[in-house]
Amino acid sequence: MKKILVIGSLNMDTVVTTPHMPKPGETIISTSLAQVPGGKGANQAYAIGKLGGNVAMMGAVGKDSFGEALLDNLKSVNVDVNGIEVIDGVPTGQAYIWVDESTGQNSIVTVSGTNFEVTIPFIDRNRHLIEAADIIVMQMEIPFETVVYIKNLVLEMGKTLVVDPAPARGDIPDDFWQGIDYIKPNETELEILTGLPTDTQENLMTSARMMKSKGVKNVLISLGGDGCLLVSDEEESFIPTMKVKAVDTTAAGDSFTAGVVISLSRGDDIHKAIEVGQKVSGIVVTRKGAQSSIPSAEEIKDL
Ligand code: RIB
Repeated sequence: MKKILVIGSLNMDTVVTTPHMPKPGETIISTSLAQVPGGKGANQAYAIGKLGGNVAMMGAVGKDSFGEALLDNLKSVNVDVNGIEVIDGVPTGQAYIWVDESTGQNSIVTVSGTNFEVTIPFIDRNRHLIEAADIIVMQMEIPFETVVYIKNLVLEMGKTLVVDPAPARGDIPDDFWQGIDYIKPNETELEILTGLPTDTQENLMTSARMMKSKGVKNVLISLGGDGCLLVSDEEESFIPTMKVKAVDTTAAGDSFTAGVVISLSRGDDIHKAIEVGQKVSGIVVTRKGAQSSIPSAEEIKDL
């Protein structure tokens, strides 16, 4: 089994369930409130650990109770946390999440805190962890200049690089994508990345091909209950998935990425990896919260 390193964010999520999404200027009464370990990076590391992968994480938390709880949660599923620095004087990252209880859809606002302490010198201090890994996974909740630095380092070292471009941004230079092994935006993120509409199958395909033409080797577009679009040198295919009733879609994308990565780390091909990602995220959306919703390997039968 290959060794995975996740580099990214850790947040304590405050989750408010609402009967519908609040409109600007509207006050509504919440039906529940919870605090759950989250952060796109930590969700991916936690899921890979819980599913039995060989995984370490690089990131930062504050010297506070949220930081402690996030570290404990990762340790509980055997994530190697030696690359997570505890920084005094800067608070742990947080996210505020509204979940519409009728659809399970969410809106998220993050407060970066220590996630923005993951700087280029930070990466240099922890470079040995990148050297020790085979597959590196990152997202975009740390400073973008750090993301670019990691990308160049990882490709120079000849490792496999998986980028989950979330939160997406529309100002990423074209050369950033060159040489990345796998990206996994959802259709909304793809629209932000390309500036093109993704409202029809044809438009989705055009946008996915555009990302491929920028130099990404495998473009995976996760479409939730509508499946996954794969564009690579070998093929352009649509991989359907099972429809489930979503209760809370938080961490759906993170858990899909985690499923794909753990499967790749076991030597599976990309079709099998997408299938595993879909199984994991298909369970996650039926449960509340981020890390609280991640299934175990036993629940994903053929992992
Ligand atoms: O992808 C879901 C995650 O996004 C949440 O856990 C929240 O912390 C934000 O980072």
